[in-house]
Amino acid sequence: MLTTSWRVLALQKEHERQNFTCGSPALERYLKNQARQDSEKRVAAVFALVQPPAYQVLGYFTLSASTIHADEVPPDLARKLPRYPQLPVTLLGRLAVDQGLKGQGMGQFLLMDALHRSLQAAASIAAMAVVVDAKNASAADFYQHFGFIPLNRSSSRLFLPMLTIATLFD
Ligand SMILES: CC(C)(COP(=O)(O)OP(=O)(O)OC[C@H]1O[C@@H](n2cnc3c(N)ncnc32)[C@H](O)[C@@H]1OP(=O)(O)O)[C@@H](O)C(=O)NCCC(=O)NCCS
Repeated sequence: MLTTSWRVLALQKEHERQNFTCGSPALERYLKNQARQDSEKRVAAVFALVQPPAYQVLGYFTLSASTIHADEVPPDLARKLPRYPQLPVTLLGRLAVDQGLKGQGMGQFLLMDALHRSLQAAASIAAMAVVVDAKNASAADFYQHFGFIPLNRSSSRLFLPMLTIATLFD
């Protein structure tokens, strides 16, 4: 498959998602039953990876505004931050690739698109990091492969500082 023909678009009604299988029933159910509603109600921005002219969803991710407690940030980074009790972040709540297409760089393509969108949005509405909720140990490994750091007091939440993300797109 040619990566240059992959497109990441805001999820639309026309996007076919009933056959999407990623190995996580919760992530599959979300795309099929909840994603459009969340998107319409502005609870989450949902983005689909498609290969035009086909409408089949090959992968997806969600982004939302969120906050973390300052004491969740590891001490070496916290020392460099103003002492506010809560810090603004962008939440990458879900990210998944169709099972039959894993290992072709699609997960990385989606993650980079999500980080780039987050960086651009942070220029208008600040967020000091992108936070992810890893659904299991393998998902946490995937994010750590790209430099995400576990938050304090959590085994499943990881973050990547926006300053680090900015260096990826210099
Ligand atoms: C995790 C997931 C998104 C990876 O997608 P993918 O398309 O197979 O990954 P890619 O082909 O883009 O891999 C990119 C890089 O990440 C690495 N990687 C992929 N999955 C990994 C994992 N579970 N742990 C560690 N590294 C991983 C690859 O080896 C590759 O490394 P390289 O560039 O150095 O060769 C996909 O397996 C998936 O959808 N899993 C189920 C849902 C899920 O767990 N989502 C994440 C939490 S919400």
